[in-house]
Amino acid sequence: MSDTADNDSPTADRSSTDELVTLERREDAVAVVTLSHGKVNALCVELLDQLHATATELTADPARAVVVTGGPRVFAAGADITEFAQRGGEEPFAVAQPAQVARIGAAFLRALNAVAAIPSPTIAAVAGVALGGGCELALACDFRVAGENSRFGQPEILLGIIPGGGGTQRLARLVGVSRAKDLIFSGRMVDASEASSIGLVDRVVPAEEVMDSALEWAATFAAGPRHALALAKSAIDHGMQQTLEQGLLTEQRDFVQSFVTTDAATGVRSFLAHGPGRADFS
Ligand code: COA
Repeated sequence: MSDTADNDSPTADRSSTDELVTLERREDAVAVVTLSHGKVNALCVELLDQLHATATELTADPARAVVVTGGPRVFAAGADITEFAQRGGEEPFAVAQPAQVARIGAAFLRALNAVAAIPSPTIAAVAGVALGGGCELALACDFRVAGENSRFGQPEILLGIIPGGGGTQRLARLVGVSRAKDLIFSGRMVDASEASSIGLVDRVVPAEEVMDSALEWAATFAAGPRHALALAKSAIDHGMQQTLEQGLLTEQRDFVQSFVTTDAATGVRSFLAHGPGRADFS
């Protein structure tokens, strides 16, 4: 049990052997992270702790690309709302105390930051709904592949609260301030087509093709230059948190660094010997 869960947590009585997040390492060097919790993959603290552990493992021992899925029916319907209520009190539906909410928020921050920090390309394969924390988990990935029937949203405002898993920050950075405010202030859901038109989703495919499409895309990264991809991801993500001037210096540092990797030796040598786009980075 991690430091974010304790006896006040509604998940404290869950068996520690429950696997709410599984990691599969495939032969093509793509890793698949699967959420599995109840009907809607509600993101309880225990699941977030397991997700943190999985993301940490994928940073210490990276796969060449990662697909995050909630299975074929639902990605995730957000924070586990049963954890928003106090337990054991006389009022069963009294809203959680700030200390309990802070523990939930900390678990989200830790887990989703760990997902965002995975050094290889990450793709959220979204079938069904990605709401609240589910949408925020998808936002912590590099890309989102969505089924035609999928829906995205930050419905927290409808509960009288605000997003706590990065929604106000990552969504605004991805789709722009006004669009993020529209979604967060209204709590409305957008379908895959609108999500695509505002840049929240990268690819929309028939519902039954979500996983195959994400795996196919991931396989293209798995065959690519792993060190260069990691440096490109790092330069973009760090640069987004810096001024343009600082970001350009970050890029310079990572540009130089990219030349001392085996990828540069392979890629540059291949270009000079065989022309563009023929390097084998496997
Ligand atoms: N946390 C915990 N349980 C949740 C949940 C959540 N975020 N979202 C749904 N559930 C539960 C429901 O209580 C219901 O449980 P039950 O079958 O034991 O009664 C079950 O999941 C199925 O939900 P239901 O609403 O009956 O199914 P649906 O297909 O009509 O709708 C959703 C599915 C996800 C669209 C809808 O449940 C929903 O909008 N959920 C809330 C999403 C949300 O506000 N997330 C932000 C949290 S901050």
